[in-house]
Amino acid sequence: MTNRQNRKILMVCLIASIATTAYSEPTIEMSRGELLYSTHCIACHTTKVHWRDKRLVTDWQSLNNQVRRWQESISLNWNADDVAVVSSYLNAVYYHLPTDKVKEVAQKKTEK
Ligand code: HEC
Repeated sequence: MTNRQNRKILMVCLIASIATTAYSEPTIEMSRGELLYSTHCIACHTTKVHWRDKRLVTDWQSLNNQVRRWQESISLNWNADDVAVVSSYLNAVYYHLPTDKVKEVAQKKTEK
């Protein structure tokens, strides 16, 4: 490989890493939720599960309940934080429930 080619590859990597850093910065919590979800949950879900007609999730509370129910069913022992980050991830990607409610629930959680 020539020196020039090397430099080109280095530049591409550099630009790519800057781009992904800028993109993922405000969503660190999201990424964790995404990671948990794609590791444990996606195996028998297609995305269809989350936008079928008679879906079980209608608000933030029921979303949390479903996430809690599913992680229990496969014995993951997630804590409230894990449930919350996965719920946030699913909400961002599929459900788009109002976020003021999300904050309300999160605050209740910290009050306890
Ligand atoms: C054994 C297969 C399986 C696994 C593993 C699984 N799910 Fe599911 N999930 C389903 C099926 C089937 C449905 C739809 C039927 C139902 O809810 O009874 C569903 C429904 C859901 C719903 C409700 C969708 C809606 O809007 O109606 C949520 C939320 C959900 N799963 C989250 C999770 C999460 C989070 C995990 C990982 C902790 C997970 N699931 C793991 C099979 C699975």
